[in-house]
Amino acid sequence: MIALKQWGIAAAAAGAFALEWWFRRPVRTPDGTTAAPLARAGADSIPVIGVLSRLKSVITDPVGLVVRNRARYGDVFTLRVPSIYDFTFLLSGEHYQRVLSLPTDHAGIGEVLHRVPTVGYWFPRERTGPETLQELILLGRRLMAEMLPGTAVSHLPDTVPGIVERHTTRWLRTVDLSAAVHPIVYEVTCRYFLGDELWDRLGDRLTTYYRHIGDGIDIPRTTLSITPFHYLMPEFHATRKLYRMIRDELPAFDDAQAPLMRAIDTARLHDAPLSQADRLWMFMYVLWNATTYPGTYTYWTLIDVLQRPRLQEGLLTLDSRPARQELLSRCLMETVRMHPVSSLIRYLDKPYEFVHDGKTFHIPAGQAVGVFPGTLNREAHRVPDQPDTYDPDRYLRDPAPKVATFGRGPFGCVAQRFSETVTASVVDELLQRHRLHLLAELPVRRERVHQTYPGSPTPARLVSR
Ligand code: HEM
Repeated sequence: MIALKQWGIAAAAAGAFALEWWFRRPVRTPDGTTAAPLARAGADSIPVIGVLSRLKSVITDPVGLVVRNRARYGDVFTLRVPSIYDFTFLLSGEHYQRVLSLPTDHAGIGEVLHRVPTVGYWFPRERTGPETLQELILLGRRLMAEMLPGTAVSHLPDTVPGIVERHTTRWLRTVDLSAAVHPIVYEVTCRYFLGDELWDRLGDRLTTYYRHIGDGIDIPRTTLSITPFHYLMPEFHATRKLYRMIRDELPAFDDAQAPLMRAIDTARLHDAPLSQADRLWMFMYVLWNATTYPGTYTYWTLIDVLQRPRLQEGLLTLDSRPARQELLSRCLMETVRMHPVSSLIRYLDKPYEFVHDGKTFHIPAGQAVGVFPGTLNREAHRVPDQPDTYDPDRYLRDPAPKVATFGRGPFGCVAQRFSETVTASVVDELLQRHRLHLLAELPVRRERVHQTYPGSPTPARLVSR
């Protein structure tokens, strides 16, 4: 019995030693180059416990983790994370430009989104694996860009009053904004892609499913989603229901009636039409983009405006709809600037080298590089005039602030104008119809990695104008 106990202790000690060795193991780089420092600020530097502390920060506070390590290691450092490749963060604006402009066969996102539930796994596609996922993502990005020409987007505000009216007539005197705003947004964006007939048939179910699926990109949930607990997760069941619904109901629908179906019909991958599995995946992916960020960022833009009575008053003095929407587009920019999709990650298929402080740094292939709007957007030399203050008028001043809000390069957002139009028209229509008074303390804002929906209700009193 005693011998067994001693064996147990020895095995635990060996395991802890191996873990610690792995956590500190240096990155090898070619002669004449140097590796980024392995960063272990705060509790991450405590032997053995540091690995657990790192894991906890990655899951619960990814933005704080980068900020803490920046204070100790500067703008270039590597974070080692259990069970995944190393992440080297490059925090200066120069790398934001350079890394995001690298070609897709050098720095891709297939490996990154491959780890995101629904899009990366759970929802079937013809072939699994990060490379084929990236091909579909690039095809989807092109398809969405072609579906968002300026002329079509400029007509979108005309659809909003009817949609807002239908939703708000069901609202009571007190409304929970955390549950009431996103269905409006989803209807506006999805009607745009699906057309009226398909939305009328599927819209209610799409709204329920995508709200759950959107939660799946919150990091603690993404972590849980690769454990057996995923059977308890609403987003897992929502993905299955979504898949079954579109598999069973789309074939009976006349594609000519739905812009997205027409676009999918003409899409080509390796000069061939998409397989049936990839057609369904593409349908899911376009609506995933159309709902995930617009839903939460419109909610938070509305909250940011409601918290600032002077901004609201100024808005209401503007008679013309275009003038109000121009101001509200700047409000969205400011909401996204202050709480952006805080890290943009690329997986390296080839090494990335750069000179920093007179040394040539080498990040090997097989690692990820991350640029970080989370800190860039608060830097005084990029955003002059009190970067920590919410100020939509900063975009009117010269020089304009340099903000990192919608990405750039081959994986940059194709829908900035569309998103501004959607958020501005929905918030404008809500505020034109109602006075909304927030009734409770605001929920905590969580950035993991984008700004997620709040974790608790946001009750507001509604007074019709
Ligand atoms: C407020 C709303 C939105 C924000 C803040 C936002 C932000 C972003 C950001 C930061 C990226 C770059 C990601 C990276 O470099 O890794 C991106 C990429 C992209 N966005 Fe958006 N986006 C929004 C809305 C939309 C909408 C409505 C669509 C389409 C209907 C869309 C489609 C895309 C696509 C196709 C990409 C490139 C592929 C990818 O990175 O997944 N986005 N977006």
